[in-house]
Amino acid sequence: MSQFHFDPDSYLTMMREEVFAYDEFQRRTAEATTGGRPVSRILELGTGTGETTRRVLARHPDARLVGIDASESMLGFAGSLDRTDLRVGRLEDPLPPGPFDLVVAALVVHHLDGPGKRDLFDRVADVLTPGGRFVLADVIVPDRPEDAVTPLTPGFDLPDRVDAQLEWLAAAGFDARVVWARRDLVVVVAESVGRSASEAGVAT
Ligand SMILES: C[S@@+](CC[C@H](N)C(=O)[O-])C[C@H]1O[C@@H](n2cnc3c(N)ncnc32)[C@H](O)[C@@H]1O
Repeated sequence: MSQFHFDPDSYLTMMREEVFAYDEFQRRTAEATTGGRPVSRILELGTGTGETTRRVLARHPDARLVGIDASESMLGFAGSLDRTDLRVGRLEDPLPPGPFDLVVAALVVHHLDGPGKRDLFDRVADVLTPGGRFVLADVIVPDRPEDAVTPLTPGFDLPDRVDAQLEWLAAAGFDARVVWARRDLVVVVAESVGRSASEAGVAT
């Protein structure tokens, strides 16, 4: 994503220009939050202007959502959403205390480096209920260089390969799988199964 600071007014237009399957990606992300255990408490990481939030809440009409984002101005745009508690906060800092049934993060975790992602996955596991779900939807480093189509800003966008992230999720106690992938975008569903169970079959 080409801008270091997102502008809430032009955000959606920019994303639709730069993330080639943005609307399908958002739809697949929301879809990936369904089909698991009943969801009443949701934590969203990187709420931004609420594009993911609206779609996820529509799938969980009885749920309440806590959303965090480092940008007060982006959250200001999302501020009028029902059933939400939006807070300025960084992924690197302690997460809001759980338990949450669902944690969802779209197009934000790639702003952390590898150790930062690993640390975040551990902390997401800590705030999820047992059997809860983490939906990680993001830009990644694809297997084929020609699939790296999303414009990125060096030093600000720090994607990793999806295989590495699946291993880090397993080490954090998740049973994780890719449910949708297109070029350099993926949606991962990670179910919380506990650290010893997930590590039994996965090398880290
Ligand atoms: C590309 S937007 C994604 C917003 C929304 N989830 C979507 O898919 O449209 C990324 C958001 O992450 C926020 N962000 C970036 N780095 C962050 C960090 N370290 N902690 C919290 N929020 C961060 C930005 O302020 C921005 O609102």
